[in-house]
Amino acid sequence: MGEVRAKHVAIIMDGNGRWAKKRGLPRSIGHQRGVEAVRRLVRGLEPMGLECLTLYAFSSENWKRSEDEVGDLMNLMRKFIKSDLPDFVANDVKLHIIGDWQALAPDIVEMLEDALAQTAGGSKRLAVALNYGAHDEIARAAAKAAEAGEVTAQAIEARLDTADLPPLDLLIRTSGEIRLSNFLLWQAAYAEMLFIDTLWPDFTPEHLSQALDDFARRERRYGGR
Ligand code: FPP
Repeated sequence: MGEVRAKHVAIIMDGNGRWAKKRGLPRSIGHQRGVEAVRRLVRGLEPMGLECLTLYAFSSENWKRSEDEVGDLMNLMRKFIKSDLPDFVANDVKLHIIGDWQALAPDIVEMLEDALAQTAGGSKRLAVALNYGAHDEIARAAAKAAEAGEVTAQAIEARLDTADLPPLDLLIRTSGEIRLSNFLLWQAAYAEMLFIDTLWPDFTPEHLSQALDDFARRERRYGGR
């Protein structure tokens, strides 16, 4: 059997807080280092031949964190878009946003709309999950399907936030936790899963490259034999 390369990988970027705690640093520094890991990964995508990378940046449950931490994460988002948007455009990256992102602060929504427009011509996809929860995504898709008078699995799937993205091949979670935390529940139906102990700020393009090589050696059956 020939090797099948993964086209779409999603990552639950976990462990920023523990990375900082281990070093006696504030959580905000852990998140900053987490953004650097994102940047390294996006810049290292080219040789991996991946069509789409989806990152869980802010879940709909993350609002429950302290006001300071939510503020830090939102400011990191603002800074990241400002500093890295030219890089995306130069590197042929097309940005997608999944989740209920229109409910974020108006200035962030505006920045994201601009980023989506500027990167629309790119061929490598980076999907960022913002204010994302899978239950909410599925409920929104089901409501749209019902409105169209067609409540079937296919009709719901076609209305998920990921409808424009390739099928999910591999889902990775860092930091040793083994759960999906309401991320891509529908899309994960046939995805391979990889849980690794590395804390997110320590995650490098080499980790992803290794995961892609391991994926290529697995045999997927989709319920058949
Ligand atoms: C998990 O670490 C990480 C998050 C809740 C946020 C992920 C965000 C980033 C990597 C930075 C923002 C991203 C972009 C694209 C601007 P945790 O705080 O849950 O860590 P812990 O479980 O060790 O406390």
